[in-house]
Amino acid sequence: MTVITCIEDLRRLAQRRVPRMFYDYADSGSWTESTYRANEDDFRRQKLRQRVAVNMDGRSTATTMIGQPVAMPVAIAPTGLTGMQHADGEILAARAAEKFGVPFTLSTMSICSIEDVAAATTKPFWFQLYVMRDRAFVERLIDRAKAAGCSALVLTLDLQILGQRHKDLKNGLSAPPKLTLPNLLDMMTKPRWCLGMLGTSRRGFGNIIGHVDGVDDMSSLGQWTAQQFDPRLSWADVEWIKKRWGGPLILKGVMEPEDARLAAGSGADALVVSNHGGRQLDGAPSAIEALPAIAEAVGRDIEVWMDGGIRSGQDVLKARALGARGTMIGRAFLYGLGAMGEAGVTKALEILHKELDLTMAFCGHTAIDTVDARILAHPVR
Ligand SMILES: Cc1cc2nc3c(=O)[nH]c(=O)nc-3n(C[C@H](O)[C@H](O)[C@H](O)COP(=O)(O)O)c2cc1C
Repeated sequence: MTVITCIEDLRRLAQRRVPRMFYDYADSGSWTESTYRANEDDFRRQKLRQRVAVNMDGRSTATTMIGQPVAMPVAIAPTGLTGMQHADGEILAARAAEKFGVPFTLSTMSICSIEDVAAATTKPFWFQLYVMRDRAFVERLIDRAKAAGCSALVLTLDLQILGQRHKDLKNGLSAPPKLTLPNLLDMMTKPRWCLGMLGTSRRGFGNIIGHVDGVDDMSSLGQWTAQQFDPRLSWADVEWIKKRWGGPLILKGVMEPEDARLAAGSGADALVVSNHGGRQLDGAPSAIEALPAIAEAVGRDIEVWMDGGIRSGQDVLKARALGARGTMIGRAFLYGLGAMGEAGVTKALEILHKELDLTMAFCGHTAIDTVDARILAHPVR
């Protein structure tokens, strides 16, 4: 039996167990993938300062994100098609997050619906919204998230047009997968995944199918989504959504201090410094490189978080040191899910937590809230 000790172990196991089309969908970035790689590489360039003979007893990584208590400053990022990494993936990840004490964010483009996840969990989760041309549908999504008791809305600002991932085109990504010969041959080597999928009815976009007139199956859905992401999205829409939602609002996808100032001025509760995990603008700096200038510009006015490239608790600590009050993780939890379902997401959270706790102690801190840039050897700015 494989002993799992790090996120990389979960990635390798997921690669073995998840059909190639969906594994590649997660483990890829847009065009040359330079930003995707930079997200991870730039974390490695940050070095930590070791302290000794400091009392390291009674440590805590607990803190808050938008006032909500969290076991560590890590939330599960919204990811589309999560229910294709593993049957009922969103439900399993939401359950793991709830038990661990960190927030779970459900994507608009999820397989399990808002109502499915609400029925399978006991604590409120967060809902991520994409703005579609069909504003009546957007209003219905917001109202459904409210009715399901979601405790924050994450509005993603950086995907009104789509970056191209070569692998998705070459693999013919679709949900559920088309039963072509190459797909069938690949799936024959992934029996656990197939069994899981046979045992669930959730195989299409649960938030959309049946909620839009004329969209009842996958082929009509494909046409609908291609036309629906609204390229005219503006700050006026952010204001409209904030009003309609009426609860805590998180703006995701900010990479420039100028946009961060607009985000802070919009009255949102948090912004996420994010390049969408290197899946949109290829050639953008890594998120950890973009973070310090944004934290400096607006960190006193709005909670600044970051995501992109977090594969260890050390990365979470470095993000904290460079000004992120919170972080979000995408691939780190997706690999756990693809590898071992709910237990794999729990494992990913345990790994990150243990690494964060011990690394914080090596740097001479017993509480995450006291960590700042002084733990870094040569802060890369
Ligand atoms: C497979 C995949 C699907 C994603 N789908 C969404 C989505 O539906 N909505 C969204 O706001 N972000 C989406 N993202 C971006 C994540 O929320 C997050 O910004 C990114 O994964 C962070 O980088 P990391 O994966 O290196 O942690 C997706 C990311 C991945 C890897």
